[in-house]
Parts: sequence; C-alpha cells; structure tokens
Amino acid sequence: MEASTPQADGAGAPGTDSVRARIEWLRAEISRHDRLYYVEARPVIGDADYDALYRELLALEAANPQFDSPASPTKRVGGAPLEGFAQVRHDPPMQSLDKTHAKSGLVEFDAFLRRELPAGASWTYVVEPKIDGVSMSLLYEDRVLVRAATRGNGTVGDDVTANVRTVRNVPLSLPPSAPPRVEVRGEIYMPRDGFAALNAKEEESGGEPFANPRNAAAGSLKLFDPREAASRPLAFVAYNAGGAGCEGFATHAAMMAAFAEWGFPVAPWSKLCGDIDAVLAAIDALEARRHSFPFEIDGAVVKVNENAMHAALGATAKAPRWARAYKYAPERAETVVQAITVQVGRTGVLTPVAELKPVELAGSVIARATLHNADEIARRDIRIGDHVWIVKAGDVIPAVESPIPERRDGTERAFAMPRRCPECGGEVVRREGEVAQRCTNPACPAQRLRRIEHFASRNALDIRALGGKIAEAIVSAGMVSDPLDLFTLDRARLAALDVSDGKGSGRVFGKNADSLVQAVEAARSLPLHRWLFAVGIPNVGESTAKTIAAEHDRLSSLPGSPVLRQVLENDAKKGKERKILPIKPESARSVLEFFDSAYGREFLRRMAELGIDPAPEGRGAADGPLAGKRFVLTGSLSRPRPEYAALIEKAGGTVQSAVSGATDYLVAGENTGRTKTDKARSLGTEVIDEARLLEMLGPAAGVPPTAGPDAPAAAKPPAAPRQQEFAF
Ligand code: IVH
Repeated sequence: MEASTPQADGAGAPGTDSVRARIEWLRAEISRHDRLYYVEARPVIGDADYDALYRELLALEAANPQFDSPASPTKRVGGAPLEGFAQVRHDPPMQSLDKTHAKSGLVEFDAFLRRELPAGASWTYVVEPKIDGVSMSLLYEDRVLVRAATRGNGTVGDDVTANVRTVRNVPLSLPPSAPPRVEVRGEIYMPRDGFAALNAKEEESGGEPFANPRNAAAGSLKLFDPREAASRPLAFVAYNAGGAGCEGFATHAAMMAAFAEWGFPVAPWSKLCGDIDAVLAAIDALEARRHSFPFEIDGAVVKVNENAMHAALGATAKAPRWARAYKYAPERAETVVQAITVQVGRTGVLTPVAELKPVELAGSVIARATLHNADEIARRDIRIGDHVWIVKAGDVIPAVESPIPERRDGTERAFAMPRRCPECGGEVVRREGEVAQRCTNPACPAQRLRRIEHFASRNALDIRALGGKIAEAIVSAGMVSDPLDLFTLDRARLAALDVSDGKGSGRVFGKNADSLVQAVEAARSLPLHRWLFAVGIPNVGESTAKTIAAEHDRLSSLPGSPVLRQVLENDAKKGKERKILPIKPESARSVLEFFDSAYGREFLRRMAELGIDPAPEGRGAADGPLAGKRFVLTGSLSRPRPEYAALIEKAGGTVQSAVSGATDYLVAGENTGRTKTDKARSLGTEVIDEARLLEMLGPAAGVPPTAGPDAPAAAKPPAAPRQQEFAF
C-alpha cells in the first residue's frame, strides 16, 4: 500500500482525529479503486488487497457511527426495503429528443439551424450513441450523491436513490475539481452479458424473463428492495447536464471531458464533426460498431457542440432544438416457419414455438422463436410455411415480427393448438381469464421431467448428477415421477439404468449412481429458501423464495401463513401498508394455494416421512444469547441494518422484515412512528430501543468495545461483488 497511508495506530488508543482521518483515507482510496475498476477498467490492486481495505473501513465505521456518511463506499450494499418512491420535481424538466429515421431528417436539421442561428454563426456537432436504457438524473450536493431520480413524465419522476447507490460505476462523491452542487443526467442500462445472465436465472427460477435489457434496467430500478437491486448488473453513462453546476462550459465536448474527469463513465465512442457531411459519415461509422458496446443502442444523437447556441435555440415543449435523435431501423431478417411445435412447461403450460429455417441476424443464427400462445398466432395470422420477418426484441431475444402475406403460395396452413397434450395425450384446458392452455394431467411425463429438472437445477437443490439426459432416462424408466422420489432411489437399479440414449451403445449409469445418491442426500441439509424455490411454485423465483424463507421457520409453517395472508389483505386494501414483504401478492397467493392443494399437502407429508426438515439459512448459534428470538428493526439506528442483522443472527436470532404475531422484539430506532410501536404491542411483540438490543447482544456478539483500526470486523455484510462485467 502507499507510503502516505495515514496510520491511526499509534501507541495506546488511537485518537478520534486519527480514526476519522483513517476512515476518510479509506473511503477515498476505495472510491479511487472502484473508479479504476468500474469506470476506467484498469485496476491497480488485486481483490484480496481491495477486500482488506473494505473490511477495515467496515470495522471502523461500525465502531464509530458518529462518522457515518452516505458517501461511504460501504453504503452501496443496499439498505432496508422501501415502502414506495418519493416524487422528485425536475428543474429544468427532463425532455425527450426529436427523432428522425432518415438521413434527410438530419440534413433538414442542419438547414433549420442555418435559418435559426444568426448569419455568419459557425458551429460544430457531436455525434454520440443513443443508449437504450432508462434516463436518470443524479444530483450531488457538497459533492456527495444525494438524489437519483427517474425521468417519470419529464416533470416529476421517482426518487430511486437507494437503488442507484448500488450501481457500481455511479460515483458516490466527486473530487474537489467538481462544483459542489451539480446535476448530471444520463442513462442507466443493463449490460448485455449481465442481462443474459439475469434472464437465464429468471427463467431457471420459473419467473418471467425480461423482454430486453431496457425493461430489465427499468424493472431493477423500481425494486422496493435495494438489496435485490444491488444484485442486478446495472451501469450508468453520463451525457447531459441537469439544472445545476454545468453552466460554465463553452462546449458539450468540454463538459463531457469534465464529467469523465469527475469520475463519471461517459460513452466510449463519440465524434466531433465540422459539418453535416461529417455527421452522416459518423453515423455510418457508429452503426458499423453498434453491437460492440456493452449497452444496446437504438441510434445516434446529434448535438450542436457550442453551448451558447443551445441557449439561443432553446427548446420546444417536448425537446431541445439543438439536438436530434437518428434512429436505426431495427435489424430484420426474412426466413420461413417450417413448423410450429408445442412445448410443455413445468406447470403444464403449452407454448407454441416457430421452428425456423436457420438465418443469421445481428450476429447469431436463429432457428427458433417462441410464439407465446395460440391467440397471439391467430391475431398475427402466422401460418405454418409462411415467410416471416424476424427481429431481435431489444436486440437480444429473437421474435417473429410479422408474416409476409405476399410471399404465400396457398400451401401455408393455419396452426391449431392440439386438443391433447403432445407429450402425454392428456386433456388440454384453458382456465378462465388465462391465455395459456395447459395440460391438466399431473402425471404428464414432460411436466414431471421439467419439475425434476427444476428441482435439481443449480440454484434449487443443485443435483448436478441429474444433468444431461439422466433426468430423462430416470423418468422414462419410471424410477422417478415426483421430485421427492429421488430420495428413495434404489442404488442397484440406478447403476443398471440404461443411459445409452437409444443409440444402442449399451451404456449404463454405473458408478455415477453413487454420486447421484450422495448429491441427493446432501440436498437434505440445504436451507429452506432453496427448498421453497425447488418445489417450483408459480411466481416464486429465487429471490421471492429467499424473502419468504426469511419469514418462516419451516416449510410446514407455510400452509395458511399469517404473513402471506397479510400480504394479500394489504394488497386488497391498496393502502399504505402494502409493502409488508417485498413480494408480489400473486407470489403470496401461489404459495398459499400450493400448500392448500392436495399435491402440496402430500408433498409436506412425504417430506416429513422422509425426515427432511430444511431450516432457514444463517440460523446462528442455537445456544447464542438470542437463540430462537425474532426481531424486526425499524426507525433510524446508529449502525447500518445489515450489520445489526448479522449480529442478531450470529447470536442465534432471526431478523424479519415486518412485525407479525411471531415477532418477539421490535427494535425501534429514532423517529419510529407510534402506529408501528402500537401495532407491535397489540400483536404481543415487545418494543425495545437500540441500547437494549446492544445489551442483549452482549460482548459475545463481537461488538467492538472501543474504536480503533484493529477492531474486529464484527459484522461483515456480503463482500462487494467486483466483477468487471459492466466496466467500459
Ligand atoms: S441528450 C433533452 N444523449 O434518449 C434530452 N439523450 O429519446 C437530452 N438518450 O430522454 C438528452 N442516449 O434518455 C442524450 N447520448 C444521449 C442519449 C440520450 C440516450 C435518451 C435520453 C432521452 C431519450 C430521448
């Protein structure tokens, strides 16, 4: 580490001043490394050294809450769930851009400027990528990020500061060269690779995948739980000034250079152009590399570079008159629908899929595209044998855009959803109010197979030995029809299982049977949230399962769960209390319905019979001072909540996100409303203050008794993820 490191560890106890200096140095140093890593993509220290700095800062901050600061890099991990978003008024409003789809529109823009600007005026242009994300305003006061807001309707947007803080390349504080108060605007986006990974995870968990990276970014910013937002791979790019702090720049290019100098990520490509011909050439150059950026771009933005001209030109009600967006035509390719097949999902939903003549589009070969459901096919009149246009929705997921009726020769056939399940011949029904058609046969082998595959998937019970064609072989041999059958597999029969995949190689499962049985046995002790996810209840993805599991002791406490019922009741009231748990009401309903169903009851009965009783993760020391006690934290506390949560769990307690009949203590920080404490008391929950909590935790919980750099890192929130996936 650097020689200039201020050390707080002199002889005897360190003075408050030196502790403060050390904290400030650590914050600056960590921010510098974050910037080198996430913005400039040239890290200069390794992960271990970085983690050491980070842990030291955490420990010092925990022991010295008087030096708390929202600009600390440790504050990126995400705070407590929000109840809703505050509204923010934009001044000036966040406008849109006038668009053109043709180069002639840009030539007209140039002619318009000639008419509007005084004779003899000369100006230049900047051409930038038009990033397809969510526009964002970042406000810094005293050079500290104090507010991040979405565009909303342009005049009023949502305050999403808690979520944006978790975006790794957003600076939490600015260097002294920046103005003390400044508003920087730009785009939040989800990088391509992060989007692909997130969707893979969503799909695996039975959730709805996002249609494109923009929806994924918008959805992530709207999460009420910043901890969940922190797990979403978002990134920022700056491209415009807000109301404050940027008045002094002569040109847009100079302002962008200053943004970069202040630590903001800016677009990795932009072109300064002397005239409109150079602009048109720059647009072609940009289009040629449109797929090389970490973000999706849907066109170019052409801006007059000279800020004096911006003032002279002004704006319409909707858009500035000094800029134009040039939108690229979406990339399309023509191909043929050779067949429409039907896939059967885990819950029996039948999904028609277009089997296409393979064709290249935006850098990959496309051979299949989902057609969603029969209504959609009829509405768009897509027929088997049709020539169709395919596009990549948000440049990622291939979709059939439309048929090309003029290419029909009369041999095309309309699609009809089979009346019987293509996999098992079972009855197909359409439930009232649903577009989906489902196979109703719970014994359908396709559904069984999908359920078992899900049960064994990586984020569920992680039974890797079931990969490849093994699950299929076991199901078709009739050895397993329900996931729990995996726990009663006969090792000898398993070893003799033919896994030759019908090719007559005569291969048997052999010794692999042992690893499978071991992996299955290991799954018994996996935590509750993994089991809840593994069951495969509709609307219960991985993170919902975690949230629900944190509120329940056992799988058997889920039937009729009061907390889940409360979620439904609050949703029905649409009142202020809506966010008792950061989950969707449909998720609560699905869980209640599942455990009320014959299958759900049988599932629990068999779990009990098999002696499987998963417990929530992190149920700490069973003999700790807080063993078995349930806490809810509310109001402002002198230390971050994740830190208290870790301390409580270490002492054997659990932390819940809302008070229910099962809560033992409500820890009421400052500014806790009377309604909350009264409600808790009425449910039989004891209301305590922070001092009492510390007393209960006792020294055994590792609360550092004195301030100092050597204080143990008592509570370490999850280490900051440092993947490079969204650095430029
Ligand atoms: S400048 C008054 N520059 O496009 C708005 N906007 O369709 C000035 N956008 O709302 C914005 N990339 O969210 C600007 N390089 C870029 C941009 C960009 C994307 C977005 C922005 C705006 C929308 C208009």
